[in-house]
Amino acid sequence: MADKIAVIGRIPDAGLTLLNNHGDVHVWDGEPPVDAGVRDLLLRDADAAITQLTQPVDAAFLDAAPMLRVVANVAVGYDNIDLEACRARNIRVTNTPGVLTDATADIAMSLILMSTRRLGEGERLVRSGAAWRWGMFLLLGTSLQNKTLGIVGMGEIGRAVATRARAFGMRVVYHNRRQVAPEVEASLDARFVPLDELLATADVVSLNCPYTTDTHHLLDADARGSMKPSAFVVNTARGAVIDEAALVDALAAGRLAGAGLDVYEHEPEVHPGLVDRDDVVLLPHLGSATVETRSAMSVMAASDVLAVLAGHEPDHPVV
Ligand code: DGY
Repeated sequence: MADKIAVIGRIPDAGLTLLNNHGDVHVWDGEPPVDAGVRDLLLRDADAAITQLTQPVDAAFLDAAPMLRVVANVAVGYDNIDLEACRARNIRVTNTPGVLTDATADIAMSLILMSTRRLGEGERLVRSGAAWRWGMFLLLGTSLQNKTLGIVGMGEIGRAVATRARAFGMRVVYHNRRQVAPEVEASLDARFVPLDELLATADVVSLNCPYTTDTHHLLDADARGSMKPSAFVVNTARGAVIDEAALVDALAAGRLAGAGLDVYEHEPEVHPGLVDRDDVVLLPHLGSATVETRSAMSVMAASDVLAVLAGHEPDHPVV
């Protein structure tokens, strides 16, 4: 009998086609999370599940899936998955690294430009229909050239942000759990610094680290207190790396110049104190949102599922 593959949330055709060629594919094409009744029906005899970052893969999910051998998350982040519970049940977990690096770094760089050059404000002004004309002092922003970008998390995405920032004439410092190899530092022209020093010296801080218990509220009121009042924060990692309430306080008190956010602490809810602020750019988690990237992510997840079902090691194992 063909293996049953539960696809929780629609994925691009490229991944689905691959799965359809090999298994008995059941797609629930709503927006995850799926409700418990449908989840239980879908998973009760499933050998594999394809999930998205909006779908918690917790004990209840796994209890509903006694046959499950693999969970392939169509995302590089996997903070929606209880890894220990998967390990305990001998279930493999995979993710989609690499293929979304450039797309996400592009969004980080866009947020850097949008917040420092006040592009959201400018767009809103033109669309508002209010009278405007070129003005010597109209919406003056901050130049990036010779400014310091502090990258927190120097994985693949952090490095791609560094490359872009260097092209815009920025200096790059970074902080990471481990210092990266000297040849990588040299190729990026980036210098490792302690987190305190990064926060105290950066003109723009870009968060590119995974969300873990160690990075929860990494930017809290204390951390933000050590930043320059002229600095900007950009987050394309996960929302809860920032204490959002503390961010709102810092912006309101003028202790920070602005922020560009693609992710939110209680996503999809956005802190009400952010919504009306002109010094904040808000995007709806678009990091990997290109046709090409999402298609490549779906193929990667599908290939890993098929590898595990065939008894092979997946190419992108998390567990
Ligand atoms: C990921 O893959 O973790 C990204 O956040 C998706 O955009």
